[in-house]
Amino acid sequence: MIIENNFEKIVSFAKRRGFVFQSSDIYGGLGGFYDFGPLGVELKKNIKNSWWKNMVQKREDVVGLDSAIIMNPNVWKASGHTETFSDPLSECKSCHKRFRSDHLEDSSKCPECGGEMMESRNFNLMFKTFIGPVEDSANIAYLRPETAQGIFVNYRNILNTQRVKIPFGIAQIGKAFRNEITPGNFIFRMREFEQMEMEYFVKPGTEKEAFEKWIERRMDWYVNELGIKKENLRIRRQERDELAHYAKDCADIEYKFPIGWSEIEGIASRGDFDLLQHQKFSGEDMNYFEESTREKYVPYVIEPSCGIERTFLAVLCDAFEEVEGGRTTTTESNKEKEVLLKISKKLAPVKVAILPLVKNKPEITSKAKEVYETLRNHFACQYDEVGAIGRRYRRHDEIGTPWAVTIDFESIENDDVTLRDRDTMKQERVKIKDLLSIIYEN
Ligand code: GAP
Repeated sequence: MIIENNFEKIVSFAKRRGFVFQSSDIYGGLGGFYDFGPLGVELKKNIKNSWWKNMVQKREDVVGLDSAIIMNPNVWKASGHTETFSDPLSECKSCHKRFRSDHLEDSSKCPECGGEMMESRNFNLMFKTFIGPVEDSANIAYLRPETAQGIFVNYRNILNTQRVKIPFGIAQIGKAFRNEITPGNFIFRMREFEQMEMEYFVKPGTEKEAFEKWIERRMDWYVNELGIKKENLRIRRQERDELAHYAKDCADIEYKFPIGWSEIEGIASRGDFDLLQHQKFSGEDMNYFEESTREKYVPYVIEPSCGIERTFLAVLCDAFEEVEGGRTTTTESNKEKEVLLKISKKLAPVKVAILPLVKNKPEITSKAKEVYETLRNHFACQYDEVGAIGRRYRRHDEIGTPWAVTIDFESIENDDVTLRDRDTMKQERVKIKDLLSIIYEN
């Protein structure tokens, strides 16, 4: 039975089991920055691999890219970020705390101390740095606030070097930085995060159809590839007055977090805004020549843009269950609640736990190590011999390990093991030689 599913529990679970730590933890952390621990890095990698496989590897019309984080500052002038990528900022005249004006219920009073607020002003969210040893305005550069611009500035390079024909996409996964005024809700709003973005170039006039198709495909990925429950996802069409400066249309994919429905991905119809701006600022011709019709045009763009940490958080929230004690251990003393992470098998940070029944019988542990050596060539595995077998099952249920392989006395004689399924807790006796194919098939 599921007892509760709330945000604080998931946050403390993520830290306790080594998924996510505060950045610079021993120095008291740093607002809006997080580190991903041994299990977190595996989960993040599995999400990225799934996206790349679906968006690049399995598509003939999409190529990949990895562009630099710091770009020529003119890129941001052209894209409009220098001018308009800002949030309204309000500061208290007494305590000098700063807030996003649009997040304040009463814009005249400080929510912290009740003091009077200064007039709201626009605060640019791009992080600044300097290139070279001289820190003057001529050497200012920015950490990219979106990976998308790295794609637009490489559009010509891709056209010139790859055999791509419109419609085609350029995909990239990488870090983005935003100096958010109020980061928060754990890894939901961060100052350093990762995006998975694809710019899909289409012939003007076909953008509406492509826009709808990409909304459908992206929704399908969350449900069928990541295994997120359909009822916890929805599509929200943005109103005209919500649209970013570059967008003609936008639909958000939202997840029902314990903090409420919130965006995990935006799918935007960017028109020819970016390519025309880069044409104007760089002087490079951004036209595409369509051989079949002898037409020349600047393509329109559809952009599915997904935040990895928000997807990571949605996956954790969706999989996290607290169940009545005694699921893995039957003694009365172990009736406290147990965490069960019902994460999709594809995303689980550890796929197989290898558990020798006892640790003081060399025949058993050496057999278990043999199995471990074979399986770790194929899957992320963990060898675990510490504690009672029930406790070890429980430890692995908590981190969502789909399979547990137990090696016992019979294994030595019969070359077989017990294979336990996380969700059904069913235990099956299987031959060691069949383990690989069973796990691959399931
Ligand atoms: N290139 C378009 C773009 O960047 P966006 O809606 O600003 O659009 C896209 O960002 C996605 O990036 C969001 O849906 C979200 O998942 C993620 N994202 C944006 N800001 C974020 C932040 N401060 N912390 C974590 N993720 C963020």
